[in-house]
Amino acid sequence: MAKSNMDQDILKVLYSEEQLKTRVQEMGDELYERLKGKNPLFLGVLKGSFIFMADIVRACQLKSDIEFIAVSSYQNATTSSGVVQITRDLQQDITGRDIVVIEDILDSGNTLYFLKNYFMTKGASSVTVVTLLDKPARRTKPIAADLAGFEVPDEFVVGYGLDYAQKYRNMPYIGVLKPEVYAN
Ligand code: IMP
Ligand code: MG
Repeated sequence: MAKSNMDQDILKVLYSEEQLKTRVQEMGDELYERLKGKNPLFLGVLKGSFIFMADIVRACQLKSDIEFIAVSSYQNATTSSGVVQITRDLQQDITGRDIVVIEDILDSGNTLYFLKNYFMTKGASSVTVVTLLDKPARRTKPIAADLAGFEVPDEFVVGYGLDYAQKYRNMPYIGVLKPEVYAN
């Protein structure tokens, strides 16, 4: 195991590096079967998906293209409805494309609900929603994943791309932070 000064902040491991590897390969195989015969555009949602994206495109050996979009979501305190803003837009025309959106986690659903509609208005012919983690307990928007890696309990998780205050993205596993880490 590599040295880490992040492990000490973790209360418990939810998914080990090995479990993630196994599940991502299963998802890659599943996507291959669903999309073979198509020329999909894998579209990663930055920053959280960057590690999952790198692994799933190698787990799915389909001839395909790679693209990224970056968004940030702002919570409106009075209505608690999330407003999603694009901070780095698509760099190509997606008209007629079969889009495979790659997300780290489907939580309230604000981000993917917004993005799915955005890609459809940009002329995509299909949008397949792929998320590593699904937290259905917190869903407020009518959106479901077409393929999800793991269903997670209503806890804040970090690692494998997911952050707390921009940290912990480079942990190779997914875990729950100790409460005192938030308090600091
Ligand atoms: P949404 O609420 O479904 O729109 O999710 C918005 C974004 O919040 C996700 O793409 C993640 O980047 C982030 N997020 C939601 N839940 C967690 C979590 O448990 N850990 C880290 N990031 C999270
Ligand atoms: Mg994200």
